[in-house]
Amino acid sequence: MSQAVIYVQHLSKRYEYYKKAPGLLASVKSIFHREKLFTDAVKNVSFQIDTGELVGFLGPNGAGKTTTLKILSGILYPTSGEVQVLGYTPWERKPVFQKQFSLVMGQKNQLWWDLPAMETFILNKEIYEIPQKLFDRTVNELGQLLDIIDILEVPVRKLSLGQRMKCELAAALLHQPKVLFLDEPTIGLDVTSQQNIRNFIKRYNKEKQTTIVLTSHYMDDIVELCKRVIIIDLGSIVYDGSLAELIDRHADYKLLKITFTEDVSKERLQAFGKVNDYTPKSVVLHVPKTSYKSLATKALKDLPVDDILIDEVELEEVIRDIFAATKEEKRTSISYE
Ligand SMILES: Nc1ncnc2c1ncn2[C@@H]1O[C@H](COP(=O)(O)OP(=O)(O)O)[C@@H](O)[C@H]1O
Ligand SMILES: [Mg+2]
Repeated sequence: MSQAVIYVQHLSKRYEYYKKAPGLLASVKSIFHREKLFTDAVKNVSFQIDTGELVGFLGPNGAGKTTTLKILSGILYPTSGEVQVLGYTPWERKPVFQKQFSLVMGQKNQLWWDLPAMETFILNKEIYEIPQKLFDRTVNELGQLLDIIDILEVPVRKLSLGQRMKCELAAALLHQPKVLFLDEPTIGLDVTSQQNIRNFIKRYNKEKQTTIVLTSHYMDDIVELCKRVIIIDLGSIVYDGSLAELIDRHADYKLLKITFTEDVSKERLQAFGKVNDYTPKSVVLHVPKTSYKSLATKALKDLPVDDILIDEVELEEVIRDIFAATKEEKRTSISYE
C-alpha cells in the first residue's frame, strides 16, 4: 500500500432514515407503514493525501464534504469502502489514533460556553495526556500565533465569533495532531477574522508540516491556502488536482476589463467578445485565450480606452460553471416496508 497519510478507496455513505410525518395519527400509521428514505451522501470516492499537504475540499451545500470528514475522523461509519488515516481505520477509534488528529467544525464548538477557553484547554491536556511543560509551551506558542493570550481567561460566551474560532483552533491543536480536518473554519466570520484564520492555517501548515484537509465555500480561503483541490458534487469527485490547472483547463477565456473615456455602446463591444458587467463607461469582456492579445490591441486602437486590464477568470466562476455542468440528479430514494 502507499505511503499516503490519508488513503480513501471506493468510499460510500448512504444515510437511511424514516420519514417523520407530523401529527399523532400519522405516527400511529407509521408503525404499520413506514416510509424509508435513503440519501447517498458519498458515492465511490477515492483519493490519497500525502504528509504535509494542505488540500481544499470543495463543493456546494450538501455535496458530501462534512460526511466525508466525519468518516475520516471516525465519527461515522461508511456504508462501504476503505479508509486509512495515519495507518488506522478511523471508525475503530483506537486511542492511539485519536491522539493524532483533530477535527474542527466551524458550526460546532468543543469549547465550554460558560467557561474560559483555558478551562477547555486544561481538560484537553488531561484527555490527551499532554505533559505540563509541553502544554505550557504549546498554549503560549498558539496563543501568540493566534493573538489570544489576553482572552484565554474570558468566558467563551463573551468572545466574538472570530475570537472563539481562534480559541477552537488552539484547543484542537494542543496535542499537536499530525492530521487536521477543518470543516468550514471561517464560516460566518467577518473579513478580517477570516484573513487572520487563513494566515494562521497557512503558517501552521508550513511550520509544522501538519497534513490539513480544509472545506470551505469561500473561494478566497481555497485560493490563498490550497495548491491542490478535490471537488465533490452530489457525493462524487468531479476534480482532483492542482488549482492552477483547474482554472487553466476549465477556463478557455480571459477577462478584458476596460474603462472608457466616453460612452461606448454594447453592440460595438460584442465584436470583441462576450459582454459582461456592461456600463457605457466600462465593461468586462470574455475573450478567447488564443486571441486575447490581438483583441486587446484592437480594443486600444478602435475604442476610447481609458484603462485596460487583462485578468484570469476567478475560481468562483470556474467552480460555478463546473457545478452547473453536472446535471441535476435526485439522490434521495424511497422504499416502503
Ligand atoms: N444525518 C443525516 N441523515 C440523513 N441525511 C443526511 C445526514 N447528514 C447529511 N445528510 C445528507 O447528506 C448529503 C451530504 O451532506 P453533507 O455531508 O453535510 O454535505 P456538505 O458538508 O458538503 O454540505 C446531503 O444531501 C444531506 O442532506
Ligand atoms: Mg458541510
